Amino acid sequence: MTILVTGARGKVARAVLDRLHAAGLPVRAASARPADLAVPDGVETAGLVLDRPETFAAALDGVRQVFLYPEPAGIGAFTEAARAAGVECVVLLSSSSVLAPDAETDPLASHNLGVERALTASGLPCTFLRAGAFAGNAFAWAHPIGHGLPVQLAYPEASVAPIHAEDIADVAVEALTGTALRGRAVTLTGPQALTFREQLAVLAEVLGCDIAVQSISRAEAEEQMARFMPPVIIGSLLNFWAAASAAPATIADTTGTLLGTPARTFRQWAVENASAFTAQGE
Ligand SMILES: NC(=O)c1ccc[n+]([C@@H]2O[C@H](COP(=O)([O-])OP(=O)(O)OC[C@H]3O[C@@H](n4cnc5c(N)ncnc54)[C@H](OP(=O)(O)O)[C@@H]3O)[C@@H](O)[C@H]2O)c1
Repeated sequence: MTILVTGARGKVARAVLDRLHAAGLPVRAASARPADLAVPDGVETAGLVLDRPETFAAALDGVRQVFLYPEPAGIGAFTEAARAAGVECVVLLSSSSVLAPDAETDPLASHNLGVERALTASGLPCTFLRAGAFAGNAFAWAHPIGHGLPVQLAYPEASVAPIHAEDIADVAVEALTGTALRGRAVTLTGPQALTFREQLAVLAEVLGCDIAVQSISRAEAEEQMARFMPPVIIGSLLNFWAAASAAPATIADTTGTLLGTPARTFRQWAVENASAFTAQGE
């Protein structure tokens, strides 16, 4: 019986896939662009677009567990197809933003909340992995750091507890292969609260260079972010960072509390990904 990993081009999904395959478990990598997948030998691939129900049946054939990226469009049809295929559990990569007081109206949070609610309504046994800020968000600073420019931030004192994608994958695999996390919603963070300024100090130490931080206004940040993302997401992120500037981030569940293995630190992430901050190419 097969484990389906959706969104397989994504970092977390790929790490989940690699772990399951290394453990000798039958796994199918599903992606909106399966032709772009580079998966290990022996891993099946399938085309799956979460808002196109006609892609569901083939992807779900023989599947008993699903690792799911959140996509509210089509989620009702997906849960129906999953039930019909005999799926026994769904592990959702959700977001801790669903816990915020404005989760119903915030675009980022409501996206995840909609999927959680549809899964709950379906009656399928689920695990919701409500991840906090990813350590990988720091890739957004690669360009200025790589070019010796100051990192411009509207909220340099925003505090998060960055989580390594590999930690999320470790917990996801436990949820897919065991029963201890079934039926639970866990809030996942990294092991340490760090402001953006503190994350940049870690990166500076790891890279052996100075990284200047330049405060900019919210309006300036909005203008910069508009080059990369839609306006509703920009407002959502800026509101989150503003709120996160009030106090150090709370540490929730980690691989330490859930699996008994030490959570990967932001410093470890920075060491592993240092080359991304030194490339001058683009
Ligand atoms: N960043 C955070 O701090 C954070 C915090 C909590 C929750 N989350 C959630 O985590 C999820 C993934 O976040 P992410 O930012 O780390 O995304 P990601 O892993 O880069 O990719 C997300 C999905 O986008 C698709 N995709 C489209 N173009 C891609 C490309 N060029 N390369 C790789 N994947 C591509 C992939 O699905 P296909 O293979 O099917 O195309 C992939 O699974 C989101 O649902 C987000 O809400 C993020």
